[in-house]
Amino acid sequence: MVHDPRPHRLPPDPLSAAGAAAPAVTLRPLRPEDAERIRRWMADIEMLRNTVLVPGPCFAPVRAYTEAEADRYLTQLMTDVDRFSFAIELDGAHVGNVGLKAIDRANAMAECFIEIGEKEARGRGVGHRAMELLLEHAFSTVGLRLVFLGVFEFNQAALRLYRGLGFDDGPQYGWHYVDGEYFEVVGMLLTRDAHLSRTGRCRRPVH
Ligand SMILES: CC(C)(COP(=O)(O)OP(=O)(O)OC[C@H]1O[C@@H](n2cnc3c(N)ncnc32)[C@H](O)[C@@H]1OP(=O)(O)O)[C@@H](O)C(=O)NCCC(=O)NCCS
Repeated sequence: MVHDPRPHRLPPDPLSAAGAAAPAVTLRPLRPEDAERIRRWMADIEMLRNTVLVPGPCFAPVRAYTEAEADRYLTQLMTDVDRFSFAIELDGAHVGNVGLKAIDRANAMAECFIEIGEKEARGRGVGHRAMELLLEHAFSTVGLRLVFLGVFEFNQAALRLYRGLGFDDGPQYGWHYVDGEYFEVVGMLLTRDAHLSRTGRCRRPVH
């Protein structure tokens, strides 16, 4: 059984000592006051094309979330008991969201997701740092053994991000239809052992 660490409490960051040049990224719980930003990000077609957050019927063209859909998404992030969701802050400003979803407590595994909503915050190492913090939470606090995800084959930034964090290619998720074309959804996975080995730390197993 996976330890449930609610309310969200992140452990002290063991990687920060090594990250002198890393951007000042922190994670915090999402709040209702974050709604305005999330409405704006969920109206960004370019971002939606890179994610599987596409609202509406699968074969409909990618379109912006309505305000009501974006608000429902935020509510889901904040209240779904099978998720741990965090706001990503860069120097104190909310620039994106990251988290675990579909948490399978019996098998100690979960899917992860990330979206840097603010365009100016992309490509500056924020996604990498936020994922490091999330993975530390997933493996060392929640006690997961496996984190997995699906990413579109054309999403080079995301593929590089996950590979740089030690994710391996896993079973293919399938195909996803975006604006008239099918794309492969690449399955990727990272085990706790691989994470601890990559970060140079060996910890006593949680279970
Ligand atoms: C994908 C995403 C989370 C990456 O976060 P980020 O902060 O932009 O990425 P980082 O700056 O931490 O860089 C991570 C890696 O991606 C590479 N990268 C960043 N932007 C890139 C781009 N536009 N094209 C190709 N590679 C890119 C970086 O060089 C780095 O690779 P390296 O470590 O091998 O040098 C972010 O761009 C984003 O949220 N995009 C829109 C939503 C999305 O695609 N979510 C993921 C769905 S699976």
